[in-house]
Amino acid sequence: MTAAPVLVAYATRYGSTQEVAEEVAATLREGGLEVDIQPMREVRTLKGYRAVVLGAPLYMGHLHKDADAFLSRYREALAERLVAVFALGPLHGPSEAEEWRDSRATLESELAKSPWLTPVALEMFGGKYDPSTLGLTHRLLSALPASPLHGMAASDVRDWTAIRAWAGGLAQKLGPNAPQ
Ligand SMILES: Cc1cc2nc3c(=O)[nH]c(=O)nc-3n(C[C@H](O)[C@H](O)[C@H](O)COP(=O)(O)O)c2cc1C
Repeated sequence: MTAAPVLVAYATRYGSTQEVAEEVAATLREGGLEVDIQPMREVRTLKGYRAVVLGAPLYMGHLHKDADAFLSRYREALAERLVAVFALGPLHGPSEAEEWRDSRATLESELAKSPWLTPVALEMFGGKYDPSTLGLTHRLLSALPASPLHGMAASDVRDWTAIRAWAGGLAQKLGPNAPQ
């Protein structure tokens, strides 16, 4: 009997988290797992999934709102499954230790709102920023002199080697012999 599939569910505003979710899904498949991938807002049920990998970006000190909605909607189903979480946030490399500390602290305090959730893996990845594609609200926010995004150049600090390594380790943790 083949093991029930794993769902990779992601939230995204500008697509960078979706691309990371696709890489995570591809790596899990290479690790021998059956994997579906869907935007969180399109998920209708977790029935039939053994494990769920959640991916979301941070915005303004919070997880993307689709992640909040997903966590409350699927609370009971998630509590019964293996869950892994990754988030995107920092826009500079890891040498900007304070930015990374802040983003991790944001992620942890956001997840602390769901104390029933005990992820088997939790990771923060660098994100992508392109001022030329921002929607109106984000453009206005980034124009404020007090904003950390003010005057910031485009950046993409997604570390694909780290992403694949994390997902490779996850394939072991979520494999058919993983404890439920
Ligand atoms: C307006 C704005 C606010 C952001 N706020 C945060 C934040 O509070 N903390 C953080 O770590 N990253 C923050 N980021 C960085 C995003 O998480 C990063 O750009 C991510 O890659 C975006 O994902 P997406 O392309 O899937 O929407 C912000 C980015 C923008 C444009």
